[in-house]
Order: sequence, then structure tokens, then C-alpha cells
Amino acid sequence: MIRPVTLFSPLIGRKIVLYDTVTSTNQVMKDFAGKGEEEGLVVIAEMQTDGRGRRDRLWHSPRGKGLYVSVLLRPPLPLDQFGKISMMTALALVKTITKITRLPAAIKWPNDIFVQNKKMAGILIENSMTTTSLNSVIVGIGLNVNLLPKDMPEDLRAATTSIAIVLGRTVDKDEVLHTLLKEMNRLYYKLIRRQDAAWLIGAWQGACAHMNQEVRVSQNKYSFEGIFRGVDGSGAALLELPTSATIAIQYGDCTLRMP
Ligand code: BTN
Repeated sequence: MIRPVTLFSPLIGRKIVLYDTVTSTNQVMKDFAGKGEEEGLVVIAEMQTDGRGRRDRLWHSPRGKGLYVSVLLRPPLPLDQFGKISMMTALALVKTITKITRLPAAIKWPNDIFVQNKKMAGILIENSMTTTSLNSVIVGIGLNVNLLPKDMPEDLRAATTSIAIVLGRTVDKDEVLHTLLKEMNRLYYKLIRRQDAAWLIGAWQGACAHMNQEVRVSQNKYSFEGIFRGVDGSGAALLELPTSATIAIQYGDCTLRMP
């Protein structure tokens, strides 16, 4: 069931397509992107049967409890700068969560959002290229809004939270969505207007949960330990190794090393 709605918001969300149930909003968006849909399209579902997380993980998507959103962007950026989209989306989520909950939210590299040391939101960015359409970026966002522990798989409960859990009450999902799209619009315009990445790097690092802390970054079968010194303009993690050399790691998972 598709219900198209047109909103008068600047770019992201100027057209929103609402679904009841989909496999994955990113999957639906890939079809739209392949057909040449303009940037700014937003796909939302009440429920996903095959919600995907980073690195082929599942994204638990029970009906009506979370925001399951995909945004189509066609940024005028070189491909190696598309990482900026992940950075700006993480910042938009931090802003949104802070506005709604009045609690601090923090980013764990590359783009997990934590509140009270538990994961509240995640981002799955997928680049899509076809011979007929321009490069596009699909920004998949999963935000735990009204999930309670009973709505989560048991093995995730200890490490996962939601807006309803931290506030002790349910909130209006539409208000959360509206705030998120507003923040994304603001940051996306700034991103494409400004040549320099200093503001984005500064804001991202200011919201990072583990700046200058000892971390382990795992990348497939490799893992690196060192001090997390921030990100570069493409979103790569800058890790200072025990040798004092600093390396840039483009993708992977980050865990804090406890003393
Ligand atoms: C992660 O933390 O691993 C990323 C999770 C991203 C989940 C969202 S929900 C909407 C969109 N559709 C998907 O299948 N995944 C993303």
C-alpha cells in the first residue's frame, strides 16, 4: 500500500512515500533511484521484514515502534567524499535526539548513535550507480522511538535503548521524523554550500563518544588498536597507533578498550 504525500519542506522530504510493510526501505529506495527519481525522496515504512544493518546485520523493525527511513541524495561531491553524508546524518540524529529527549546523544564511529551508553539509532549508507542514472546515495536510518525492552530481541536488550525507554513515555513518531528531516535539510545544504570540511569534522568530533580514547577498530579479519584522534573529511577514522603513526581507516567497527 503506497500513500504519496507532498510536503513543502526544502529538499529532503519534498516527496515522501509511506509504506505499511516492506522488506527494507533501502531496498525500495534502490528501485526508485534506479528509475531516476530526484534527490530528496524519502521512503518510510511502519515495519520492515528484512531491515538491514551495517555489515549484513539485521535491523530489528517491529511494527509502528521505530522510524525506518531511507533518503535519496545525489550530492554534487566526488565519490570519495560521500562519507560526509554519513557524518552529517549522524549529526542530524544527534541533534534530533537531543531536541526530543533533552539528553546528550553521542556518535560511535562510524555512525552509531548512543544515549546513556546504549545504541539508539544506526545508519546504513548505500551508494547506487547504474548506467542510466547519476550516482546516488541511499541514506537508511533506523531510530528506536517507541520500542520497549519487550519489543527487542533478548540478546540486544542490554545494549539497546529507545526514546521511550530514556523518557519513560512514548512519543509522537511524526514529531521525531519532522525534526530529523529539518535537521538533515539544514546540514545537507550547509554541506553542499561549503567547500571546507572543517565545520563538519569539528561538529562530528564534538559529538563523538570516544575522542582521544583507546579503541579497537576491526575491519573484517584485521583489527587495529590505538587512540582515536577523530575523522578526516571523508569520515575515515584517524587512529594513533602505539608506534605514534596515525592511520586513516575508511570502514570498520569501533569498540572502546576498557583499562
Ligand atoms: C546499523 O546500525 O547497522 C544501521 C541500521 C540501519 C537501519 C535502517 S532502517 C531503514 C533502512 N532500511 C534498512 O534496511 N536499513 C536502514
